[in-house]
Amino acid sequence: MALPTLIKRAFTFSLVYFSLFVASDSTQEVDALLRWKSSLQNDQNPSPLTSWSVSDHENVTKSPCSWSGISCNNAGSVIGINLTGASNLKGTLDEFSFSSFPHLTYLNLSINHLLGTIPPHIGNLSNLKYLDLSTNQLSGEIPREISLLTHLEVMRLVKNHLDGSIPREVGQITSLNELLLFNNHLNGSIPEEIGYLTSLFNLDLSKNHLSGSIPASIGNLSNLEFLYLGNNMFFGSIPGEIGNLKSLSRLKLRKNDLSGSLPSSIANLTNLKFLNLRINHLSGSIPEEIGKLKSLRLMRLSENQLTGGLPPCIGNISNLQKLSLGYNNISGSIPHEIGNLKSLRSTRLGFNQLTGSVPPSLGNLSDLKFLYLHQNQLSGFIPQEIGNLVKLTKLQLYVNHFSGNFSHNICQGGLLEYFSVRDNHFKGQILKTLKNCTRLYRVHLERNQFTGNITEEFGFYTNLSLLDISHNKFYGQISSNFGKCPQLGTLNISRNDISGIIPPEIGNAIQLHHLDLSSNHLLGLES
Ligand SMILES: *[C@@H]1O[C@H](CO)[C@@H](O)[C@H](O)[C@H]1NC(C)=O
Ligand SMILES: *[C@@H]1O[C@H](CO)[C@@H](O)[C@H](O)[C@H]1NC(C)=O
Ligand SMILES: *[C@@H]1O[C@H](CO)[C@@H](O)[C@H](O)[C@H]1NC(C)=O
Ligand SMILES: *[C@@H]1O[C@H](CO)[C@@H](O)[C@H](O)[C@H]1NC(C)=O
Ligand SMILES: *[C@@H]1O[C@H](CO)[C@@H](O)[C@H](O)[C@H]1NC(C)=O
Ligand SMILES: *[C@@H]1O[C@H](CO)[C@@H](O)[C@H](O)[C@H]1NC(C)=O
Ligand SMILES: *[C@@H]1O[C@H](CO)[C@@H](O)[C@H](O)[C@H]1NC(C)=O
Ligand SMILES: *[C@@H]1O[C@H](CO)[C@@H](O)[C@H](O)[C@H]1NC(C)=O
Ligand SMILES: *[C@@H]1O[C@H](CO)[C@@H](O)[C@H](O)[C@H]1NC(C)=O
Ligand SMILES: *[C@@H]1O[C@H](CO)[C@@H](O)[C@H](O)[C@H]1NC(C)=O
Ligand SMILES: *[C@@H]1O[C@H](CO)[C@@H](O)[C@H](O)[C@H]1NC(C)=O
Ligand SMILES: *[C@@H]1O[C@H](CO)[C@@H](O)[C@H](O)[C@H]1NC(C)=O
Repeated sequence: MALPTLIKRAFTFSLVYFSLFVASDSTQEVDALLRWKSSLQNDQNPSPLTSWSVSDHENVTKSPCSWSGISCNNAGSVIGINLTGASNLKGTLDEFSFSSFPHLTYLNLSINHLLGTIPPHIGNLSNLKYLDLSTNQLSGEIPREISLLTHLEVMRLVKNHLDGSIPREVGQITSLNELLLFNNHLNGSIPEEIGYLTSLFNLDLSKNHLSGSIPASIGNLSNLEFLYLGNNMFFGSIPGEIGNLKSLSRLKLRKNDLSGSLPSSIANLTNLKFLNLRINHLSGSIPEEIGKLKSLRLMRLSENQLTGGLPPCIGNISNLQKLSLGYNNISGSIPHEIGNLKSLRSTRLGFNQLTGSVPPSLGNLSDLKFLYLHQNQLSGFIPQEIGNLVKLTKLQLYVNHFSGNFSHNICQGGLLEYFSVRDNHFKGQILKTLKNCTRLYRVHLERNQFTGNITEEFGFYTNLSLLDISHNKFYGQISSNFGKCPQLGTLNISRNDISGIIPPEIGNAIQLHHLDLSSNHLLGLES
């Protein structure tokens, strides 16, 4: 009799003890959540956290598991807090009792109005895997205690006002696979210890005030697919170890102060799709090995100090869609192999020292929309094959030494909008050529030897906003068609052989604010 009672008592006791334990665990969580709630500004109607409350009759079993944004495990412990976006929370994390949530694995407070600092106590969330505090107004430094979150896989603190430097202790969170800190005011350099984060596949530190050189240890991150360090103040050269990042798909280092030459090891990045190094001080030549980047779709190296020639093996990058090499000192000729790049949509080679002529193979690039060859020392005739580029919308050939007739069927596709061939030695009846380009909106023909009767050859251009045909040999009379260009703002026909009267219809071009008709033979105008 006594024995069973004892067993029964013991059993009851352990049940009571168990439920007391559960109750006190969730009581602690409830209290912590309510305390934090009461610290938040409560000026919204309806309050986003109305479900966060306990009525008196719930006092034994009070549990936050049904509250909005809260998720629990089977034992009733809070494992997820997801109050992103719509919650519109205003306040700080100062009253958030991190140590009350020993089971929390997911904390997402992104897209709110949280102010103040990230408290060091955040390190008490010892089971946290996902931390997202992005898009708030958090300031101050990233606490080094964040390194206590040794199970963290995702850390996103993007779009805040965080300053100070990236704590080197971050290197201890070896479970991290995503570290996103972009759009903050972080300064100092990338800690060498970043090289310990060998599970990282996404590292985005762009748009901060980071400086120093890119640590060689970054080459240890063999799982990295995305490396974004753009819009900072990094200097020194790009470490050759970057070639070890075999999984890298996107590399963006644009807008920094990087110098030195492109490491040839970059050729080992055979999975690279996007390479953006524009606006730095990179020098030296484009390495031959670049042709091995078979997966590359975008290559932006513009606004650097690159010299040397365009390697012919560039024609091996068969998936390339965008090639931007403008504003460098690249010399030599355009290799005819460029015609192999069948996917190319944009070719920007302006502001370089290119010489020689345009290879006819360019006409094979049937998807090309933008062709920029301006401000070089290119010469010779433009090949007829350019007429095959039926998707062309912008053609910039200005300031070169091109010559010959420009009578190509450039309007076959009818998509041409921007056409600038100014400051060359072109001849021929260009206006006749352009007559079918009905979408033209900016046209620069000035300072060539073009000719033709503008009365007959000027077409209808409803979008035309700028036309400069000055310093040529056009003749005839100003067509009344000029009045049918409702967007025309700038018209310069000075220094030609145009005669006759100024048609009154020109007054219909109501946007016109810059008109230069000087140095012609117009009646009623001093020339
Ligand atoms: C809640 O607590 C009060 C006293 O604190 C008690 O009188 C009441 O019975 C409790 N309610 C429930 C449902 O247990
Ligand atoms: C978090 O909450 C948002 C908005 O309420 C919801 O769209 C999203 O699916 C939730 N995410 C998770 C992981 O619960
Ligand atoms: C947090 O929520 C935002 C918005 O709903 C979402 O885009 C983001 O992926 C979430 N973060 C994590 C780590 O799940
Ligand atoms: C929480 O974190 C702070 C700062 O790291 C530490 O001092 C404190 O002891 C921790 N509290 C608990 C209950 O773990
Ligand atoms: C970083 O910024 C803080 C203030 O925001 C400043 O005190 C510190 O000196 C800066 N450190 C570096 C390395 O520029
Ligand atoms: C990381 O890279 C550096 C320099 O490349 C090397 O010396 C170091 O041994 C590497 N560390 C780890 C943990 O792989
Ligand atoms: C590319 O990688 C291979 C093997 O990982 C290595 O032997 C070679 O030196 C690397 N090439 C360059 C140019 O760094
Ligand atoms: C190109 O070279 C010229 C002279 O060699 C130099 O004056 C100019 O600054 C260089 N341009 C760039 C972008 O490096
Ligand atoms: C790359 O291009 C060069 C020159 O155009 C050519 O000789 C070579 O065979 C190509 N290599 C590969 C791997 O396609
Ligand atoms: C590319 O263009 C050249 C020159 O116009 C031409 O001879 C060649 O057949 C073209 N190749 C392809 C594959 O279209
Ligand atoms: C302009 O288009 C018409 C009709 O589509 C065509 O017959 C003519 O050859 C074209 N002219 C030029 C110069 O492209
Ligand atoms: C230009 O063309 C118009 C219309 O066809 C014609 O009347 C005029 O004589 C031509 N002007 C010259 C100088 O050929």
